[in-house]
Amino acid sequence: MARILLADDSELIKSTLKLYLSKEKHLVYTAEDGAVAIEIFKKERPDLVITDIIMPEVDGFEVMKYVKENDPNIPVIMITGVGDTESTIKAIQEGAYDYIEKPIDVTRFNQVVKNAIKSKELSEQLAVSLSKEEEEEFRGKTSLVGSTPIMKEIYKSIGRISSSRITVLIQGDSGTGKELIARMIHNSGITKGQPFIAVNCSALSESLLESELFGHVKGAFTGAVRNKKGKFELAGKGTIFLDEISEISYDLQVKLLRVIQEKEYERVGGETTVPLEARIITATNKNLSTLVDDGKFREDLYFRLKVFNITAPPLRERREDVPALVIHFVKKINKELHKNVRKVPFEVMEMLQEHDWVGNVRELENTLMQAILLSKSDVIEPDNILLKKSGKINSSNETDMYNYNRNWSMSELEKFHIENVLNETKGNKQRACKIMGISKPTLYYKLNLYGISLRTGKDKNPD
Ligand SMILES: Nc1ncnc2c1ncn2[C@@H]1O[C@H](COP(=O)(O)OP(=O)(O)OP(=O)(O)O)[C@@H](O)[C@H]1O
Ligand SMILES: [Mg+2]
Repeated sequence: MARILLADDSELIKSTLKLYLSKEKHLVYTAEDGAVAIEIFKKERPDLVITDIIMPEVDGFEVMKYVKENDPNIPVIMITGVGDTESTIKAIQEGAYDYIEKPIDVTRFNQVVKNAIKSKELSEQLAVSLSKEEEEEFRGKTSLVGSTPIMKEIYKSIGRISSSRITVLIQGDSGTGKELIARMIHNSGITKGQPFIAVNCSALSESLLESELFGHVKGAFTGAVRNKKGKFELAGKGTIFLDEISEISYDLQVKLLRVIQEKEYERVGGETTVPLEARIITATNKNLSTLVDDGKFREDLYFRLKVFNITAPPLRERREDVPALVIHFVKKINKELHKNVRKVPFEVMEMLQEHDWVGNVRELENTLMQAILLSKSDVIEPDNILLKKSGKINSSNETDMYNYNRNWSMSELEKFHIENVLNETKGNKQRACKIMGISKPTLYYKLNLYGISLRTGKDKNPD
């Protein structure tokens, strides 16, 4: 049973809806105008407000504004005219929990009311509730989050090595935070303030990678029209981070070994040697020692790289860190997406803590981003969490990996599909358009309509 305030100037709609709601055992207060609704609201503090938009004196937007200012936890459902997309969009933008279109479909009406009441209940059983101040204190911090013993060991390691330029190898599954660890090492000690240069070794062909790393002199090869500094040189006295080191060719392995041993190198086509000053950090999500056993990676190089070894643990081995990570990401994502989700119910936190997170911290972050986009209020609801099923992933049918929700409207489904395809194409819009069979302007329109923002950083691809 919930206490519901219903405002509509149409006697027919009011009495019909009241009938439906009473059948579900709810207690209903009715108002024929916004002004009356606000008076009742002040006195009764209902659990839910349902209001028409156009009313004679004070309209539905005014009612919602009053409710949101006085108790943002109380969900407001708006009744919109058929095809009135403008008001619908405005209603959602201004914080309506949901809307119901006239003529009213009973099944949808009941479902929306049920969801709204559930949302109100959830917002009273919170694992996390951030205050506005707490939310705003997030300033794009890039430090590692976690206080489990495994993470504490990593902090200790970082402390131990950051005052020297010792070579470090970071191993761990995809999304476990290897790059973040590398950045922490860089920022915590003598390399702080110096350049941090990251190179993804799998992204470039062998010949390109060599000149990318060591630079080249004018005329070294066709296309080398001027001298170019390599990443080692650009890193100066800072850090060069070689990501996916397992992917470099045998020849390049030999060259890299020489650089580490001699502490100097030559630019491609050049004759003078350049001293190596930067610290080398490498990372891989493969098991390098197995690759060595299989003859795919040079053993001598492997030993040179792992002078100091750090293993980033899978998230499922440090589940106790999930709540702290959730708080961290909710703040971060709010900032990025201009949202203000502040509440995470126990039920949701449990789901997140129990999940197996094959994609580790990155998957948790992406899941929260999706949840925050789907969330209709300042609460993350269980339905907003789309988890990949654990176990063997059927790659021929990617959507099987998600708990697709049968209660979705067509537009929620469309948004979900667009996000998945963009994920699949790593943000490449051209390929995404081709897969979905739509034009670029249509895609841009829909991105805007659904508030989908593409990930920045290394996932971002040019059009
Ligand atoms: N301990 C952590 N605290 C806060 N954020 C984290 C943590 N670990 C990872 N992240 C975040 O998760 C995302 C993935 O991390 P990162 O890119 O460092 O992973 P990775 O191990 O390099 O993955 P890959 O092998 O796929 O390159 C990033 O957005 C990073 O900021
Ligand atoms: Mg990485």
